[in-house]
Amino acid sequence: MARYLTGIQSSGVPHLGNILGAIEPAIRFSEDRSNDSIFFIADYHSLTTIKSAAERIHNVRSVAATWIAFGFDYEKNILFRQSDVKEVLELGWILNCFTPFPMLANAHSFKDKADKLSDVNAGLFTYPVLMAADILLYDAEMVPVGKDQIQHIEIASDIAKAFNNTYQTEALLLPKAAVQADAMTIPGTDGGKMSKSYGNFIDIYLDEKALRKVVMSIKTDSTALEEPKSTIGDTTFKLYSLIASETETENLKALYEGVNFGYGTAKQMLFEKLLERFGPAREKYKMLMAEPESIDSILAIGAEKAGKIARVVLQRVKKLTGY
Ligand code: TRP
Repeated sequence: MARYLTGIQSSGVPHLGNILGAIEPAIRFSEDRSNDSIFFIADYHSLTTIKSAAERIHNVRSVAATWIAFGFDYEKNILFRQSDVKEVLELGWILNCFTPFPMLANAHSFKDKADKLSDVNAGLFTYPVLMAADILLYDAEMVPVGKDQIQHIEIASDIAKAFNNTYQTEALLLPKAAVQADAMTIPGTDGGKMSKSYGNFIDIYLDEKALRKVVMSIKTDSTALEEPKSTIGDTTFKLYSLIASETETENLKALYEGVNFGYGTAKQMLFEKLLERFGPAREKYKMLMAEPESIDSILAIGAEKAGKIARVVLQRVKKLTGY
């Protein structure tokens, strides 16, 4: 049995790109009985950028509600809030003292911002160390992440090696990044990669009217209604193909290639498919967000399970270091 662990940014309400590209694949993966999945919401990491308490609380609940609404089995696996298991801060400090300065100075997450050092807080600089603590505290073997996070996993492994070397032990397990080779790029409403920071995302939790408006705003080319249309590079078609069945996608392709089929109709079809495909998740999400205590109590159960693992590993580390 392999233990998979990953941290999920709590930087906002998860959008269609997050759901299709990361959340659904991770949930499918966790359904494989031979795996043991630990997913947590990285709310301490979010303090490096987000300072508003209300925003943080809302984001954490929204991310948790999404995982639950999309069917993550939090009873078999573990879903928790990073800040509920304080041991991560203790391990984080210890690991800080095994982390060479240049290792952090070379991290992309810091380097990208190093041209304006006055904007870099120490938390941002040591972000990879807290991330290493997240991973090492749970004896994680595999860490599913996007390409941009590979370096952080290598740093975690290097810190673990430095610690193990110092005490001539194997107390910390060396983690590996599990990168999805075929990770999908989900296009946003402007045709570029869907991303919160580009403002081109589709929030599937919007009420119907607002959701329809966003779908109708998808950029298209100016092929006239009477002309046949190409499906290649068309955002509406691409999104539809990602959520519809193969036959439905074939049917839409035939409509594009015929005459007198307009983009407006294609968008209406996409809108209806979104409602159909995500109807149950939308309902569940709404219900959970209306009763935040139910989310909090699910996270509390997760924290208890995670805490048990964390305390064993931290104990190993403390014993070796003389605490
Ligand atoms: N830094 C990760 C991201 O931006 C989130 C994260 C925090 C994480 N701690 C982690 C991912 C531990 C994997 C393991 O996506």
